Amino acid sequence: MALHIINHPMIQHKLTIMRRKETGTREFRDLLREIGMLMGYEVTRDFPLKTVTIETPMQQMVAHELAGRKILLVPILRAGLGMVDGLLTLIPTAKVGHIGMYRDESTHEPVFYYYKMPQGKDRIVIITDPMLATGGSACDAIHRLKEDGYSNIRMMCLVAAPEGVKRVQLEYPEVDIYTAALDDGLNSDCYIMPGLGDAGDRIFGTK
Ligand code: PRP
Ligand code: URA
Repeated sequence: MALHIINHPMIQHKLTIMRRKETGTREFRDLLREIGMLMGYEVTRDFPLKTVTIETPMQQMVAHELAGRKILLVPILRAGLGMVDGLLTLIPTAKVGHIGMYRDESTHEPVFYYYKMPQGKDRIVIITDPMLATGGSACDAIHRLKEDGYSNIRMMCLVAAPEGVKRVQLEYPEVDIYTAALDDGLNSDCYIMPGLGDAGDRIFGTK
């Protein structure tokens, strides 16, 4: 069980712009894509390498390449989509599955509406969702992926609440969580404080 807080200065700087209420949709979306790529470095840091013998224009050498575990990115719709393009810049061969859910406004429980994965269960799964609030959506997504046969799952978010981190760690201690910030907690509407507001609305200009 591990919580990785990625406090790289470039990520922190971009996140601060995203948090500002005056930041508009276009800039918010661009920054989330950039952060998605930057966080990708940390989320993939433990990926295994193997040695290969290659020829440079100068001589033969023993070099490193990824040891072949295939990657599956799984955005939780809608907001998770905002991190996918950045990750695909880093891992262009990754496949992308989708899980659709939204939080019911009164119960704050996730309402499931879509699930589509590519073939092959032996992939390293990176779930993306910028907001980890109560943890309900993340836990439901992990549950569905495990039930479907995936076993190597990690969770990448942008802003997490301690309540959500605790819930995921309790229910799925084997799932590592990567986040750029651990905020103070949830308000009475289960929004993250200080947070950045509603990520889906800010990415897609709804509301
Ligand atoms: C948001 C967010 C997460 C979820 C987090 O989605 O993107 O999926 O809430 O909350 P939780 O940890 O309490 O489950 P939302 O329901 O706003 O849907 P959207 O992405 O379609 O806007
Ligand atoms: N979903 C969001 O988009 N923001 C929050 O603060 C909590 C859930």
